[in-house]
Amino acid sequence: MIMENFHDLLVKRHSIRRYTAEEISPDDVQLILEAALMAPSSKRSQPWQFVTVEDRKKLELLSYCKEQGAAPIGKCSLAIVVCADPGVSDVWIEDASIAATYMQLQAEDLGLGSCWIQIRNRYSGDGEPAEDYVRALLDIPPYIPVLCIVTLGHKDEERKPFNPEKMLWERVHIGKWRPQE
Ligand SMILES: Cc1cc2nc3c(=O)[nH]c(=O)nc-3n(C[C@H](O)[C@H](O)[C@H](O)COP(=O)(O)O)c2cc1C
Repeated sequence: MIMENFHDLLVKRHSIRRYTAEEISPDDVQLILEAALMAPSSKRSQPWQFVTVEDRKKLELLSYCKEQGAAPIGKCSLAIVVCADPGVSDVWIEDASIAATYMQLQAEDLGLGSCWIQIRNRYSGDGEPAEDYVRALLDIPPYIPVLCIVTLGHKDEERKPFNPEKMLWERVHIGKWRPQE
């Protein structure tokens, strides 16, 4: 499906956790990374750092980084580890989150599936921070926190478009805060 406009893309986007074995073309990888590098950041500080992983063995090992919710890493064609330098920006979490989201939206526009895998504040079954596990596996220096991993690949599951009836309009307060009944 060719995306007619940005709203269609938002309606259609869902997290995709199953991927075919097909690789992502180098041109598409380039566009996804460009999206990250064009993301806005506080004071244009651009504190992010990205580690791309395509090696199957490493992807499998990364999928064991936390107890739950990391399985898509073992199935994707490409994982992009999103890190940032807190020494460069005090709001690095926001900056890196926007870059990760930009990559997910660019992937959707290319017809690819993606999923955000949370790493920061997540732990393995025996209490090891997922961040430390990922850092050790990919030689990420100790002063660079890991926010998340964006998994990417050709979709191997169908998701229904967003149902407008599920929009939480009660979360929108017009003019001033109104307590919910
Ligand atoms: C901050 C954040 C953390 C998330 N962590 C995970 C995760 O660790 N594993 C996972 O499979 N999905 C994760 N997701 C994806 C959410 O589960 C998903 O976005 C949510 O269920 C809504 O579904 P949708 O993306 O299909 O609309 C995360 C999403 C966000 C924004």
